[in-house]
Amino acid sequence: MRTHAAVLWEAPGRWQIEELEVGEPGPGDVQIRIEAAGLCHSDYAFNTGDSPVQYFPWIGGHEGAGVVTAVGADVRSVAVGDHVATVFIPSCGVCRWCSSGQGNLCDEGARIMALGSGEEQFRIRTTGGQGVGQTALLGTFSQWTSVPEQSVIKIPDDVPFNAACLLACGVPTGWGAAVNAGNVSPGDVVVVMGTGGIGMNSVQGAKHAGAAHILAIDPSDYKQAQALEFGATESYADISAASARLAELTNGQGADVTMVSVDLLTSDIAAAAVESVRKAGTVVITSLGRGGVGSIPVDLMMFPLYQKRIQGSLFGAQPPRVAVPRLLDLYRSGDLKIDELVTQTYRLEDINEAYEDVRQGKVIRPVIDMEH
Ligand SMILES: NC(=O)c1ccc[n+]([C@@H]2O[C@H](COP(=O)([O-])OP(=O)(O)OC[C@H]3O[C@@H](n4cnc5c(N)ncnc54)[C@H](O)[C@@H]3O)[C@@H](O)[C@H]2O)c1
Ligand SMILES: [Zn+2]
Ligand SMILES: [Zn+2]
Repeated sequence: MRTHAAVLWEAPGRWQIEELEVGEPGPGDVQIRIEAAGLCHSDYAFNTGDSPVQYFPWIGGHEGAGVVTAVGADVRSVAVGDHVATVFIPSCGVCRWCSSGQGNLCDEGARIMALGSGEEQFRIRTTGGQGVGQTALLGTFSQWTSVPEQSVIKIPDDVPFNAACLLACGVPTGWGAAVNAGNVSPGDVVVVMGTGGIGMNSVQGAKHAGAAHILAIDPSDYKQAQALEFGATESYADISAASARLAELTNGQGADVTMVSVDLLTSDIAAAAVESVRKAGTVVITSLGRGGVGSIPVDLMMFPLYQKRIQGSLFGAQPPRVAVPRLLDLYRSGDLKIDELVTQTYRLEDINEAYEDVRQGKVIRPVIDMEH
């Protein structure tokens, strides 16, 4: 099966559209015709080199939705013709984490780092036969792809693909950061640092959880305005501009929860987040930093004396197979905005321009409307 895909040959680098060969799905694998793919910052971090690419050439993309076109032996949860969304962490269903309701931490997640090591087979090759890496074993910036069954979730046929693809990462990751990792509670005063494709959903999650005040922080004027539409009660260009208001709202104590979803985590941003929360307050860190570097320069007394908590969050700290159908229900009942996140769609050929538009703060979540 021939496909066109957005591929990186080097980092830093730009996406190049290449013709590739998708192999027949092997045992436990599913072939998908991708209909829509969302542009998460985690893929852009491969362009910049902030996240190391394990193997060149490398297909980007982990947010995807499409139709199953073939299945390998032993595939049980989906069949040809089913609509599916991808998820960037496979769920095996039997490891310690899957068995205890933490499928987002599934041990099979280690496989997404194994391509190119010889342990994980290549599913896609160049027309010359060279193995091609796939982001998170997915590679959704491609017309067709072949992925493990553990990385797809069946979705109802009536859900638009443009919305479904954001259930693969952006929506659950942001929403769960507030509802699960941050445990936002009714009446809380919360801060969301970075209201892009992920953070806008932390705003929605915080609203859903009953936060009384949601302060959105983003340098983009457009994102600041949009955050108010998604449930923020006020918005600011940076955290220091919000500090006086935060003190006023909390009698000088600080936020109950601060969520960090800026595009690139730095030591300064993390430190400012820790500074912003009250005694026993929670900082939720979703953002990725530069691979292998960075520390948080905070007064260590913040922990034993102020009891502050730093909480990491992967896929919104919730099992994908529970989160995706649950969030779909909220979308279908009108309680979760997803269509509104997709402020612009692009052709695969225009993927570099789409990421440039995000960088310039012009769009919330660009989506590739895949042509075949
Ligand atoms: N932990 C996970 O499971 C997970 C999953 C997906 C993505 N991520 C990470 O989450 C982060 C956000 O991804 P995204 O797709 O929403 O990116 P995005 O580019 O859509 O949004 C990032 C936003 O941060 C804003 N920003 C930049 N500097 C800022 C600052 N100093 N203060 C406040 N806002 C600032 C930008 O203007 C932008 O609106 C990335 O680091 C991404 O790699 C983590
Ligand atoms: Zn993502
Ligand atoms: Zn597992």
